[in-house]
Amino acid sequence: MTHRVFPGLRDLDDITTTTAIPQCPVKHSPSGQHFVLGHPEVTQAAAAPDTFSASVSPRVSVPNSMDGAEHAAYRTIIDSYFTAARMATFEPTCRAITRDLMSQLTFSAPTDVMDTLAQPFANRVQTAFMGWPTTLQRPLEEWVRKNHAATRAQDRAAMIRVATEFDGYIVEQLQVRRNNPTMTDVTADLVRETRDGVPLTDEQLVSLIRNWTVGELATIAASVGIIVAWLAAHPRESAQVRDLHALGLDMAVVSDEILRLHSPFLASRRRTTTDTTVAEDMIAAESRVNLMWATANLDPRAFPNPLDFDPLRNQDANVLYGHGTHYCPGKPLAHLELRIILDELFTHTTHITPAWDGDLPRQALYPTAGFTEVPVILHRTHG
Ligand code: HEM
Repeated sequence: MTHRVFPGLRDLDDITTTTAIPQCPVKHSPSGQHFVLGHPEVTQAAAAPDTFSASVSPRVSVPNSMDGAEHAAYRTIIDSYFTAARMATFEPTCRAITRDLMSQLTFSAPTDVMDTLAQPFANRVQTAFMGWPTTLQRPLEEWVRKNHAATRAQDRAAMIRVATEFDGYIVEQLQVRRNNPTMTDVTADLVRETRDGVPLTDEQLVSLIRNWTVGELATIAASVGIIVAWLAAHPRESAQVRDLHALGLDMAVVSDEILRLHSPFLASRRRTTTDTTVAEDMIAAESRVNLMWATANLDPRAFPNPLDFDPLRNQDANVLYGHGTHYCPGKPLAHLELRIILDELFTHTTHITPAWDGDLPRQALYPTAGFTEVPVILHRTHG
């Protein structure tokens, strides 16, 4: 591997080459956790939700921790917010946000694009998509910072405090819509949702919205940083991608392949409901299992040359957005955003060069993905 997939996760420290994945497709940690690393094994487990339940803790998370009919009912609601029609309506706003951020970037001198592009982009897109006031951008920024700090320190009390703070902002937004029934935005539509004729509770709506917000503020921000770092670190492939962009290739295919090579979303947790076997390894009922999308996407059995950038050849087996019933509902929004980011980066720059020391920018520690900072030099397009 060209990078450590899981810095900070000592249980997987010895997975240093892609050939180690098929040799050891399931790893059992001393703490009793199971890590499913291989592509066939991850997809097999993800496609068997009766055996690999998403309900991993007593806390209900909509829809992430749900199974069966309950999960399907929420997915019907959620999927209706990421249709092609909704994406087409949001496209001009998303583009305007990106262009505004590009106009404020520093060119021809080192700039940390996590700080100047990735995080503000995810934050502004999230608030605009939900219909929230721009005054919420600062508290959301603070929320991300505190959330990272609490997760890094594994400080449970701080994690609960930060979550409660987030809930307060969202409940306020729900209340504003209930008091103003003529409001029309995504949050107002969510307030009107029902399940079996009963309106969703604040608790259900906050949980649902929190998961969308994490999709944006964590995964999209990490993705933008990874994409810019990849463009800077791979000048030859970047020049090819710029040519493909000029020829009209869908840039979502390119972002999928960059993010296959360096995942912005490392793993998903499951609980076994019965004794089961994965790759001939017995896993007992009630075990904690981690489905590792990041290593599955580097498995030579699914990608013959897993470290080569080959967007068209590798797109079918790519599990960047998951597999099975919990497949990412936010993928159309993620594709819209990353397409626009690549498009505008190519319009505003001739090329991007690294401004970090060593092979790669500093990687975030597990379970956070991506880079803590991405210092690069953006070379501005003239004319
Ligand atoms: C590049 C960006 C993204 C990546 C790589 C990504 C990846 C994933 C993956 C791998 C899963 C499967 C989790 C599992 O099986 O347990 C997932 C689920 C999910 N994602 Fe995303 N995601 C991205 C962006 C987003 C965005 C923008 C949103 C919403 C605005 C979102 C919302 C969700 C939700 C709600 C789920 C849970 C679905 C369920 O449990 O049925 N994601 N995502």
